[in-house]
Amino acid sequence: MTTDQDIRYVHGYSARETERLYDQAGSVKDLIHSDTAYPVGSVILEAGCGVGAQTLTLAQNSPAAKFISIDWSEDSLALARDLIHRKQISNVDFIHADIFDLPLDEKCVDHLFVCHLLEHLVDPVVGLLTLQKHLKKGGSITVFEGDHGSCYFHPETKEAVQAWNCLIEVQKRFGANSLIGRELFPLMKASGFRNIRIVPKMLYIDQSSPELRESFVKKTIIPMVEGVKAQSLSLGLIDEGIWQKGIEDLHRTQTDEGGVFCYTFFKGTAIR
Ligand SMILES: C[S@@+](CC[C@H](N)C(=O)[O-])C[C@H]1O[C@@H](n2cnc3c(N)ncnc32)[C@H](O)[C@@H]1O
Repeated sequence: MTTDQDIRYVHGYSARETERLYDQAGSVKDLIHSDTAYPVGSVILEAGCGVGAQTLTLAQNSPAAKFISIDWSEDSLALARDLIHRKQISNVDFIHADIFDLPLDEKCVDHLFVCHLLEHLVDPVVGLLTLQKHLKKGGSITVFEGDHGSCYFHPETKEAVQAWNCLIEVQKRFGANSLIGRELFPLMKASGFRNIRIVPKMLYIDQSSPELRESFVKKTIIPMVEGVKAQSLSLGLIDEGIWQKGIEDLHRTQTDEGGVFCYTFFKGTAIR
């Protein structure tokens, strides 16, 4: 069944997307979490927790903090709950809600954690302002987002670049922005946060890191591109032969001996 959320969320909620989110979280776990931990007794609102791929690490890294993790997809939340239960973690409460209409009081949390969410919002500043209402004065926000314009690879063929650009364009037509990483500073500033600090986090992958080739390039990035095939063809962004060759060429970045893949995420922190 196609729901309103499927239409508004470019990656959808398939089993393959669920697997991709877990692979993505695993391969960039250190980039996201190595410098994030929360004090004893603090309350953190995780917005758009999805299948709990970040929730697990957040809760494990800060066992004496309490997490309120929300998403508007019931199916994703069911998977997140199951994961947290299996890992015997008890410091997470899940809430099924839209971030724009949260059943939470104003100024009730100490920290906000937002990962791979802003890129999907039509107006990320309104999203940040809405979330900020629930943050106590002096509380912090951590945002982690990618930027598909930061991606380059070897070998680079024009077909591979065309297929990659379909991902950016399809997301744009959904009203979202996959080039959002570079905009974190202005977005957080426009949302009234102070002490904003943005750190680029680059992932460079070659033959010497076979696990990352497998988990990030093969299982995260290429499936993400493959996920917009139907939309790319139906929108006439690319023809099927070029698409096929583009995907094959993207795979060469992780199968060729000299294949290389580079991508930069951006992590922003700030205070209300
Ligand atoms: C790319 S996933 C990221 C999930 C998780 N943060 C992670 O990094 O693995 C984005 C999630 O945001 C959720 N989402 C998007 N818009 C939302 C909204 N307005 N309210 C609640 N959840 C939303 C989607 O359902 C999806 O689970």
